[in-house]
Amino acid sequence: MTDKTYENIKIERDGGVTFLILNRPEKRNAMSPGLHYDVEDALTWLEDDPETKVLVLTGAGEAWCAGQDLKLYFRETSKNPAERKKSNTASHHWRHEILSRFSKPTIAMVNGYCFGGAFTQLCACDFAIAADDAIFGLSEVNWGIIPGGIVSWNLTDMLLPRHALYYAVTGEPFDGKRAVEIGLINASVPKDQLRDKTMELAQKLLNLNPGVVKFTKQAIRSVRHMNAEEARDYLGAKQDSLHRADKEIADKVGMSKFLDEKSYRPGLGPYQRPGS
Ligand code: ACO
Repeated sequence: MTDKTYENIKIERDGGVTFLILNRPEKRNAMSPGLHYDVEDALTWLEDDPETKVLVLTGAGEAWCAGQDLKLYFRETSKNPAERKKSNTASHHWRHEILSRFSKPTIAMVNGYCFGGAFTQLCACDFAIAADDAIFGLSEVNWGIIPGGIVSWNLTDMLLPRHALYYAVTGEPFDGKRAVEIGLINASVPKDQLRDKTMELAQKLLNLNPGVVKFTKQAIRSVRHMNAEEARDYLGAKQDSLHRADKEIADKVGMSKFLDEKSYRPGLGPYQRPGS
């Protein structure tokens, strides 16, 4: 089946890895209402697309995403409350609800500028790798607005409060290396190595049991806002649910290889799925 095509985004494939590319390079991939509708539709489709085993979110040209489109998303919809509401709903739906609960692993491949509202999809991705010279900025303070939508929540969820306060209040931009230091992203590399580094992580994820990866990422995200008792209860139920979903799970994660065959030691590296 041929892939869907869109006006504001591109879909590219590399094995089981699907690249969703924001594609308004002339506007530094700023998020217009049309872009929100396109990504919302694409992610809904890719969630159930069997060929998509890992999702990479990136941008065409010099930018990853320059935040909300100040003209099309803010200024023009101020005269059209219905469109404002519709695009605001789509914006939150794909950037947080769909992406942070996506059933396959997600990687933000930050090739360049990442500003304002783009932090929501950055934090919603499970992993993030940037070019060393990518520029991050919470520029809202310069536009007379606060980091809204849920950006302020994203910041305090992902960063230590000192860093969240400093970068949100000052609006000071920072690069990929600094983003690693403050725990916003996993790694930064020279731009010409960005795709290889992303594919290296994607390959690592492809080798793992997809059911366990899915339940683990859901568990990590969910327990973060629970107390210990709630987490214990939730994780017990989640583990039962994982076993019901996949009765062979113990073998697939290598337990019999460790206990019976003695051919594998988890402390020395992740289990390689047969055939991977
Ligand atoms: N909204 C609307 N248009 C934008 C945005 C944006 N967020 N970002 C860039 N553009 C447009 C520019 O207006 C320009 O359009 P034009 O060619 O019609 O004049 C085009 O994209 C290219 O932008 P330049 O500024 O010329 O590109 P440059 O590479 O020099 O700089 C940069 C890129 C640093 C990203 C700069 O455009 C910028 O500072 N953008 C604003 C980023 C921002 O503050 N985003 C947060 C928005 S608020 C929010 O998300 C809640």
